[in-house]
Amino acid sequence: MSGQTVKITIDGSVVEAREGLTILQAAGEAGIYIPHLCYHKDLLPGGHCRVCTVKVNGKPINACTMVVGGGMVIENDTAELNDLRKSIIEMLFVEGNHICPGCEKSGNCELQALAYRFGMMSPRYPYLFPAKQVDGSHPNVYIDRNRCILCGRCVRSSQEKDHKRVFGFEDRGIQMRLAVDSERQLAETDLAAADKAASYCPTGSLVVKRVGWKMPVGTRKYDKEPIGSDIAGRRK
Ligand code: FES
Repeated sequence: MSGQTVKITIDGSVVEAREGLTILQAAGEAGIYIPHLCYHKDLLPGGHCRVCTVKVNGKPINACTMVVGGGMVIENDTAELNDLRKSIIEMLFVEGNHICPGCEKSGNCELQALAYRFGMMSPRYPYLFPAKQVDGSHPNVYIDRNRCILCGRCVRSSQEKDHKRVFGFEDRGIQMRLAVDSERQLAETDLAAADKAASYCPTGSLVVKRVGWKMPVGTRKYDKEPIGSDIAGRRK
């Protein structure tokens, strides 16, 4: 990064942005929340989910992968874009089996928190109720693919943080699924309990065993404040 800054406009506000940052990062530094899901600040962007879609000079683009450029005019918090984001969240709900009241990630789940943020009630798409596999073979971590949204955070964190390749994807389209680096189950991979990979899952798909209910429901992060409040709180 050069240390130079450029001026961009987000929803009518002129913002000074450091060169080399993505739109998502620059907005965050300015205290402007751009909703996102597959992005995590500690990982390289994956560009999978499209929840961060903004319009740059009228064209839709991923805010998590597009680097800022001087003079960009960015639309973020508009009815059209928020409805697009809401439709993506709804699609993720119907493509999986997300039973929030029985999930140990409830209140700490970013998918659930985004659904609340966008006021999701009944999804506009029919529920698919797909048959998904659960892998409880590992002594310390389990995979519940019913809750997996294929964001790729575990894939990236296993490579970038743990320097392993425990996770990947297989198949395509609606058949696409989270795979592990073994012919059979998670227990046969080199995943360790202390690996970072499980901690980056935004939902309750990849969960460390025996800790999920330690913090009571009602006292968790998004039980207290909507997702994005920490970023919006930075705004001067
Ligand atoms: Fe940008 Fe998912 S957060 S594509």
